[in-house]
Amino acid sequence: MKKLLDQITEEAAKAFEACGYAGEYGRVTLSNRPDLCEYQCNGGLAAAKVYRCAPIQIAEKVVEELKKSSVFQEAVAVNPGFINLKLSPDFVQAYLQKMAEDVRLGCDKAENPKTIIIDYGGPNVAKPLHVGHLRSAIIGESVKRLGRFAGHKVIGDIHLGDWGLQMGLIITELKYRKPDLVYFDAGYTGEYPKEAPFTISELEEIYPAASTRSKEDKAYKEEAMEATYLVQQGHRGYQAVLEHILQVSVADLKKNYANLNVEFDLWKGESDAQPYIPDLTAMLKEKGYAYESEGALVVDVKEETDTKEVPPCMILKSDGASLYTTTDLATIVERMKLYHPDEIIYVVDKRQEMHFVQVFRCARKTGLVEDDTRLTFLGFGTMNGKDGKAFKTREGGVMRLEHLIADINEEMYRKIADNPEIGEDEARETARMVGLSAIKYGDLSNQASKDYIFDMERFTSFEGNTGPYILYTIVRIKSILHKYQAMGLDPKAGRIGVPGNETQKALMLELAAFNAAVENAFEELAPHKICAYIYELANTFNKFYHENKILGEENQEVRDSLIAVSLLTMQVLETCIDILGFEAPKRM
Ligand code: ARG
Repeated sequence: MKKLLDQITEEAAKAFEACGYAGEYGRVTLSNRPDLCEYQCNGGLAAAKVYRCAPIQIAEKVVEELKKSSVFQEAVAVNPGFINLKLSPDFVQAYLQKMAEDVRLGCDKAENPKTIIIDYGGPNVAKPLHVGHLRSAIIGESVKRLGRFAGHKVIGDIHLGDWGLQMGLIITELKYRKPDLVYFDAGYTGEYPKEAPFTISELEEIYPAASTRSKEDKAYKEEAMEATYLVQQGHRGYQAVLEHILQVSVADLKKNYANLNVEFDLWKGESDAQPYIPDLTAMLKEKGYAYESEGALVVDVKEETDTKEVPPCMILKSDGASLYTTTDLATIVERMKLYHPDEIIYVVDKRQEMHFVQVFRCARKTGLVEDDTRLTFLGFGTMNGKDGKAFKTREGGVMRLEHLIADINEEMYRKIADNPEIGEDEARETARMVGLSAIKYGDLSNQASKDYIFDMERFTSFEGNTGPYILYTIVRIKSILHKYQAMGLDPKAGRIGVPGNETQKALMLELAAFNAAVENAFEELAPHKICAYIYELANTFNKFYHENKILGEENQEVRDSLIAVSLLTMQVLETCIDILGFEAPKRM
């Protein structure tokens, strides 16, 4: 469906043209004086310079034309040359009825669907998920859903950190603790056990213990580095341990991400990219892109217009080991080969921006991607505690994701259990849903690149710009529709009528802005724009709710129309929260 603003703009453009001015001056925007009008057109001011006459004269002439259009109820020229507009109730009614009849609620699907890979989550195997990984998961999931809703083929890849020193550390520590395991028996040639020799809790304890020890004990660290080298070279026993680490870790990660309503299509990791590295480095050398610098192999990626120094992209260290950049370049090679994406979006902490500048430039310069393949870095800021410093536990340690979720759920449960009508099981389930909305909306309502303060009290509040407030509004509508159904009536049967007052019209206009909001949020990869839109929509609905008798409306046609508008509001809100990655309970 054509966007409402585009439709009005076309109408205004026609009026400008009819008066002998260029149509481009007819651009209409939302009014910045909602007390005076709904929309405005400032084209008269710009046109005045070109046509050398007073802006107000142009505005007045155009207004005479606009008055003939059935789209507008009111068109007024005001000094110094603005045009204030109000839409005709019939036009609004027709737009909304068409939107209500459309399964996609007025949103067109992309004409040329693109294949997009989203690299997000990025947890490191064997290390517990902490809140730092939360943002990548939440934002990435939402961008993925936004892209899919727009009609693109979007592939979400978790890109596990499974190729580093942490693997060698775990192997080394395990060897100290359980030297008799077959994995450490060099003469062993049989099959290795299927069952891992540790649980996830043991694994999560082993890694930090090993990490601490390696910092104090040089020989231990060297052993771990040797183990890392050996596992990367394919040492049989160590490979088997690596498989176990992956198996145990991934099972635990899947559980955690499922709790967050986050789902990946691909569970690939850094290790999957390793086989591409030898050919990649050979190509870089052969084609003369890479050269030796202090023993290391590097590719220059600086550009003349740089204002900051962009160091060369390191491909191999002097000892021949590959690096994070090498892995990311090799992953691009793999992705191009297997999926041929039009775009790859990386949802990663913004402190890694320089790394991605180097990787992107290197990939482009050396032809790993095509000229029109887009490489996008969606960097996010830090989630801070109320003290403005990185979010910590009360004891000052790194907050684990599971604990954060459990804390929020407990807080929500406390609030919901106040309602005597809701039993224990339902209250727990509802608390989980509302809790998730608090975490996700609290995060997504901020522009991704900014740092934000995780404020449990504010995020879990049922009032204000919060997830629970949005859910509360949805539940309110569900309850109205439920009562309507209990009267033996079908909410889907009603037609949307003309708005009967200001609050009705305001709600209808807000609903009509849905397609534009989603499109804009996707273009800018900005879920916070969806949040801003639904916050406005929820506020507008609640005003409408307070100022109109809905079920009590005596005129049945009007009542049915108010129900139809409420239903549409619920559908729009539910579509939006699905894009944000959470859902609403039946009641709360
Ligand atoms: N595992 C990395 C980290 O924890 C994030 C991975 C981001 N994605 C990428 N392709 N580099 O910092």
